[in-house]
Amino acid sequence: MKTNQGDTIVINKSVMEFSKVEVFWTKGVAILGMILFLSLILFSNKSFSQVTNLKNTNTMNLLNDKIKDLKFYELPYIYDALEPHFDKMTMEIHYTKHHKAYYDNLMVAMKDNPESKTLSLLDLMKNISKYPVGVRNNGGGYFNHHLFWNILSPKPQSLPQGDLKLEIEKEFGSFENFKNEFEAAAKTRFGSGWAWLSVDNNGKLFVSSTPNQDNPYMDIVEKQGIPILGIDVWEHAYYLKFQNRRPEYVATFWNVIDWGKVEELYKKAKR
Ligand SMILES: [Fe+2]
Repeated sequence: MKTNQGDTIVINKSVMEFSKVEVFWTKGVAILGMILFLSLILFSNKSFSQVTNLKNTNTMNLLNDKIKDLKFYELPYIYDALEPHFDKMTMEIHYTKHHKAYYDNLMVAMKDNPESKTLSLLDLMKNISKYPVGVRNNGGGYFNHHLFWNILSPKPQSLPQGDLKLEIEKEFGSFENFKNEFEAAAKTRFGSGWAWLSVDNNGKLFVSSTPNQDNPYMDIVEKQGIPILGIDVWEHAYYLKFQNRRPEYVATFWNVIDWGKVEELYKKAKR
C-alpha cells in the first residue's frame, strides 16, 4: 500500500510537472502567434501606406537640379502597385536595372565634366546637341523614366479635368481624338522610343514621338516643347507581359495614367 500510495504521489507529481510544461508551451505558442499576427498587420500597413501615400515627387523641380546633385529617386509606389495592368516583374526590372543604368551612366559620363556643378538637367537637355551621344542617351533616359513613373498611379484620376480637359478638346476636337493620335504615335514609333503630349512655346498642346531616349526638351527634336505625358515604348517596358503586342501595352497605359499629375505638369508648363 505504502509503495502503491508512494507511486500514486509520484505519478501525481509527474502529471503536475507535465501540466506546467504544457501550459508553458501553450502560452509560448500563443505569444509567438500574436507576435506573428502583429508583424503581418504592420507589414500589411507598410505596404498599404507605400501604395496610397504616394511621394510628391516634383518632376519639374528635378529639372533645375545641377547634374552633380541628381539622385536616383525612389519609385513612388511598390513594384506590384500597378497590377494587373503593369506587372510587378517588369516594373522591378525596368526601375532597378534600366532606369538605374541610365542614372549611373549619366553620372559617369559627366563625372569629370566641370559643368556638372553648374549645369541643370533642363539646360543639359536644351543644349544636348553639344554633348556626346552617351550623355544624350543616358540623360534622356534618366529624365524620361522619372517623368514616366510620376504620371502613373495605382489610384489614378482616370480622366483630365478643368483647363487641361478643355485644352485637349479644343486642340484635338475630343479626348477620343487625342487618345487615337497619341496611340498612333506610340504604336508607329519604329524601334525604341517614346510618344509624348507636350506644351509648345505658344502654350498649345501637341503629340509627338521621339526615338531612343530623346525627348521634347532636346534641341535635336523636330518640335520642342514641355512634355507633360509620355509613354515608354521600348520593348523592356512591356515585353515580359505583352511580348510583341505593343498595341495592347499602349491600350493598357490609359488605366494607370494619373491625369491629376499630368494636370500639375500642364499648369506649370503654362506659367
Ligand atoms: Fe524604359
